[in-house]
Amino acid sequence: MRQKVILITGANGEVGHGLIQQLSEMRNMPPVIVLDIRGLDESMRPRVYETIVGDILDGALLDKLINEYEIETIYHLAALLSTHSEFNPETAHKVNVQGTVNLLHMATEQSRLRGEPVKFVFPSSIAVYGLPDLPTKAEAGAVNEEQYLNPTTMYGCNKLYCEHLGRYYAFHYRQLAVTDEPYRIDFRAVRFPGLISVLTLPTGGTSDYAPEMLHAAAQGKPYACFVREDSRIPFMAMPDAITALLTLAQTPAERLSRRVYNVTSFSPTAGEICDLTLAAFPQARISYEPHLKRQAIVDSWPGDLDDSAARQDWGWQPKYDLRAAFEEYLIPTIVQRYR
Ligand code: SER
Repeated sequence: MRQKVILITGANGEVGHGLIQQLSEMRNMPPVIVLDIRGLDESMRPRVYETIVGDILDGALLDKLINEYEIETIYHLAALLSTHSEFNPETAHKVNVQGTVNLLHMATEQSRLRGEPVKFVFPSSIAVYGLPDLPTKAEAGAVNEEQYLNPTTMYGCNKLYCEHLGRYYAFHYRQLAVTDEPYRIDFRAVRFPGLISVLTLPTGGTSDYAPEMLHAAAQGKPYACFVREDSRIPFMAMPDAITALLTLAQTPAERLSRRVYNVTSFSPTAGEICDLTLAAFPQARISYEPHLKRQAIVDSWPGDLDDSAARQDWGWQPKYDLRAAFEEYLIPTIVQRYR
């Protein structure tokens, strides 16, 4: 008998850490194995069954994993974020798209082996949207899943295409084969807004100004924000992002009216994030030095997301609004972290 497990790719990133923590504290969950090119931080290792240091582009490694384990659910988090991807778009495409195809294929093989669909949970992003200009962004308000799907970044293109691939592998894979594929995968995705965590800093994203501002202030370091004070995109506190992934994974398939869902919590301007940061750290030195090209990416992302489908289908409800996120989670926890 192969050991039944949950696989997390890109587990050493900030979503991965949060997810490992939660999963390891839940009852009746299979143990977690992780795959990350950077390995896994020492502090996280006692919470997982096995750490595999490796690349999602390594097909032989993925084959070995499905022969060794019965993988019940995959959280495929490994990706290069939006800013990082613009410096090397072809590498980003390889990691973000080919890496995802490898995992989708592996999940399909695994579904056949175990005679039951593997659940494939995929974090997509607000980067799949592309609004043409600021007046359109202001007028659009909360954007639903079908609107403005014209991403301007490689990362956004990759995420949008991988959502389609997920749907393909779930419902149409090898549709012309003589015998029907009996066990396709069970694909589910959430489009995340910018995420703010106190435990880790993101690397290579374009929504990073919010967490960077807060972490700099908590450490008494000056921070020059790379977008204008009036820039607005949706954000979410990390614990809510983890809840979204876990809740979507656990919802019975018949309740899902779609496979890709917006989720969001609050939509502050950079100035409002700055004000809340200053309220907690009055000595913080925060200035604005917009980087015009990163600014253009943020300006192309929606100011708000319509997440009513997630609310209706699987009871999505963030725990933290903007004030609660700062007062109950971000500030108290970050003060402890840098004490
Ligand atoms: N946080 C991501 C980024 O900035 C967006 O999903 O790239």
